[in-house]
This record gives sequence, structure tokens and C-alpha cells, in this order.
Amino acid sequence: MATILVLHGPNLNLLGSREPEIYGTDNLEDINQRLTALSVDGRHHLLALQSNAEYELVERIHDASREGVNIILFNPAAFTHTSVALRDALLAVAIPFIEVHLSNVHGREPFRQHSYFADIAIGTISGFGAMSYELALNAALDHLNQNK
Ligand code: DQA
Repeated sequence: MATILVLHGPNLNLLGSREPEIYGTDNLEDINQRLTALSVDGRHHLLALQSNAEYELVERIHDASREGVNIILFNPAAFTHTSVALRDALLAVAIPFIEVHLSNVHGREPFRQHSYFADIAIGTISGFGAMSYELALNAALDHLNQNK
């Protein structure tokens, strides 16, 4: 059994109504519920947090280390392109993580094409809408299986 933490960054609480042509119509609860159902099927434990505050995400990452979280699915949202603090938190706890984006950040504005996380993540999944999270969960479980 694995413990998986899903972290959603700023403005993702508005999913469903926020720029639906870019981010789709599923809301965050829909996404978390699907991830929970998939995790329960595999007898895994899924924890989730959305925050608009960088320090809350930093502290959640610190706590994850104490709680024995095995892997993190992280959509840092706008912090992808700005946050050295979140990068350092992930390096400090050394919990493997997958970077997730709903939109294809590489097909958008130039400032979205730099990530503070891509080079330290196991990998990045970007551009599949809400399904990006499900693909990331599958990839995370596969990674844990191969690194037992
Ligand atoms: C995002 C892409 C980011 O550039 C943006 O700031 C977000 C969402 C995505 O999931 O596509 O808020 O991380």
C-alpha cells in the first residue's frame, strides 16, 4: 500500500469555471474523487490539498516527509514558473514527484515554458486536461512498483 499526495497550486480551486477552453469543465472535486477511487481500487491511500498560498504548499511538503508519503503528484500551477521555495522544499524532503499540468504549457506563452520542477521531477505530464492527473497516478504507481 502506498500513500500518494496530490498537491494543486493557485487558482486550481476555480477549475470548472476558470478558462474552461484551456482547463476543461471538470472541477477539482471531480478530479480528486476520480483519483481517490482509482487509489482505493489499488488499496492505496490518497491525500489531496489545494492552496493559493506558497507557504502552505511548502509546509504540506514538509509534513509529507514526516507522514511517510511515498510519492507526490504536483500541479504547481503558476508557481511552476516562479517558485524556488517549492523546488527547494521538494529537494529537501527528497520525495519523488511527478509534475502535472492540465494544459500543454509548451504550446502557450513563453513564460510558461520554464519550469522550476521539470529537471528534478520523475517526469512531467502536460496537456491532457483532467486526464493528466490520472495518467500521473498510473505513472506514479508504476514508478513505486519498479522501485520497491
Ligand atoms: C497549469 C499551467 C500553468 O501555467 C498555469 O499557471 C496554471 C495551470 C496547468 O495545469 O495547465 O495555473 O499548471
